[in-house]
Amino acid sequence: MPHVPVLLNEAISHLEPKTEDVIVDATVGAGGHLKGLYDSVKGKGVFIGLDQDEESLEILRKSFNDSRNVFLINENFRNLDKILRNLKIEKVDKIIFDLGVSSMQIDDYGRGISFKKNEPLIMSMRKDAEVEGLTAMDVVNSRSESDIADLIYKYGEERFSRKIAKGIVESRRKKKIETTFDLVEIIERSVPAFYRRGRIHCATRTFQALRIAVNDELGALEEVLPKAWSLLGKSGRIAVISFHSLEDRIVKNFFRDKAKGGEAKLINKKPITPTQEEIKANSRSRSAKMRVVEKTI
Ligand SMILES: C[S@@+](CC[C@H](N)C(=O)[O-])C[C@H]1O[C@@H](n2cnc3c(N)ncnc32)[C@H](O)[C@@H]1O
Repeated sequence: MPHVPVLLNEAISHLEPKTEDVIVDATVGAGGHLKGLYDSVKGKGVFIGLDQDEESLEILRKSFNDSRNVFLINENFRNLDKILRNLKIEKVDKIIFDLGVSSMQIDDYGRGISFKKNEPLIMSMRKDAEVEGLTAMDVVNSRSESDIADLIYKYGEERFSRKIAKGIVESRRKKKIETTFDLVEIIERSVPAFYRRGRIHCATRTFQALRIAVNDELGALEEVLPKAWSLLGKSGRIAVISFHSLEDRIVKNFFRDKAKGGEAKLINKKPITPTQEEIKANSRSRSAKMRVVEKTI
């Protein structure tokens, strides 16, 4: 399914892109925000799109074909300083982060991010995760029961985390947990019946927690914000769209500290959220929150 950019108009109007700006989209994905920003300044400027997922970039490269002022780079945004140094760019004017995963990663890439399809339990945003990195399969088959319980509680705010972790460890003694449906079955067996019939699927929070852990999503965000701040020029702006309360807290505290220290102006005191129409048209936008800050020194 193609990815529909969330809070697109709001992001553009709050970032206020100008011609000749150096603009970084740190989570370029299907390029919705980057294209919006590019069009808003008629392509006049420098545009840098990052994504740790090469598969997303492969598609996007075709649409920006020969543009010499658009750089699409397969890197984790936590290396923003190094990436810009390689491009010989010292200061940037606008940076956008649209955190989490794209619709393509959930629906099309076969990485086991969704509990609705039976796929290998990978969950990494990186295409080469099975070879190089950590997968959710590694986590559920090798971590201790208490580690798994803590992770599901912390990143998924799942109240039955202990029961689910116990179910995982009991099950893996008999057979390696390999697919999303293996895990869904374990979760369904581990939680009380009322929870199994609840409004949200009982596997939602566990899947979210594993995805956040496997991709170190909070660690990458904590690492990049200070780097982004020092790379931002005076009057530059950063917008962050988050989908999880822990992410939003990291962003809120970082921006608030900068404002308190006299280095920043908060463009919006309360986070910007999608309108009812947007949520209706794109249900994945429902938990989005956007915060925007301007550097004043
Ligand atoms: C919500 S999607 C972005 C969608 C994009 N704004 C659009 O309009 O198409 C998030 C993207 O960020 C990427 N991503 C998430 N964390 C990342 C990180 N730490 N470094 C680089 N890319 C990351 C994901 O691979 C995914 O493609």
